[in-house]
Amino acid sequence: MGIRTLLIAYALLGVSVAQRVVTVQSGPLVRTEGSHVTIWCNVTGYKDGVEQDFEWSMYLTSVPDREIRIVSTAQSNYAYAVYAQRVNSKEIWVERLTRDSALLHITNVQARDQGLFECYTPNTDGQYLGSYSARTNLTGESMLHHKAVF
Ligand SMILES: *[C@@H]1O[C@H](CO)[C@@H](O)[C@H](O)[C@H]1NC(C)=O
Ligand SMILES: *[C@@H]1O[C@H](CO)[C@@H](O)[C@H](O)[C@H]1NC(C)=O
Repeated sequence: MGIRTLLIAYALLGVSVAQRVVTVQSGPLVRTEGSHVTIWCNVTGYKDGVEQDFEWSMYLTSVPDREIRIVSTAQSNYAYAVYAQRVNSKEIWVERLTRDSALLHITNVQARDQGLFECYTPNTDGQYLGSYSARTNLTGESMLHHKAVF
């Protein structure tokens, strides 16, 4: 194999290795009702230099197919009705830590927040490679009863 071929092979390999990977704090996250919850989300494998956006949704266990949008660093008015007020009042927000890392904050977490949380990062490259979202469970613990009644 000539050096040229080798360099081309490495270049191709580089492209295929540079896949988007979204990582979210692993769960289940067991939290007490009323507490301040944070969930981190990181992304790697995108083209350098582009600030990433983070969009958070959740899915209730009872309706696992229905996405409930919560908050986005890219769009205001992203939240569905059930979350809009808490996002507008800054009870729920996304704190950007770096270009590719962010924290979802939920102050005063409530029973209805129990479910599967998803962090989605919109594509910033020309093509789609890798994964764009990751999920983690948030479950509640009652201070009085020590079971998941949240
Ligand atoms: C995610 O990003 C934060 C902030 O940059 C960092 O502290 C944390 O270790 C990262 N987690 C992983 C799994 O890379
Ligand atoms: C979340 O919890 C459900 C129900 O226990 C489980 O089936 C699912 O695998 C969990 N998902 C994650 C990402 O942990």
